[in-house]
Amino acid sequence: MIRKLCYVDNLPDEGKLKAFADSRPDSHLSLCVGVLDGQPFAVDNLCPHQGAPLSAGKLDGENVVCPLHAWKWNLKTGGPLHAGDPALPSYELRQYGDEIFIRIPTERVGKEAC
Ligand code: FES
Repeated sequence: MIRKLCYVDNLPDEGKLKAFADSRPDSHLSLCVGVLDGQPFAVDNLCPHQGAPLSAGKLDGENVVCPLHAWKWNLKTGGPLHAGDPALPSYELRQYGDEIFIRIPTERVGKEAC
């Protein structure tokens, strides 16, 4: 499923994080979006450790740092910095004109939780 996420002007500044909600009425998906080298990336906003909003954390290079206990994940891939930590679901973002679109895998549609 591909949906419009926002306008380019709504993206966070380079090196910052911002939360976005899926606009579908039946969705609870919350996303943590950041921009690296001018390209936006999105991962789940819910920390798999104890549920902190990752968008309230910070970026350390390409890594999202959780605001509670500083666990880290790569914003581009959702991969954990430390082996054994769970990966974050990541989402493909594409820009068309002045709009940003997100691809939500079909297995995630209707299964989001945050
Ligand atoms: S709640 Fe995110 S690392 Fe603990």
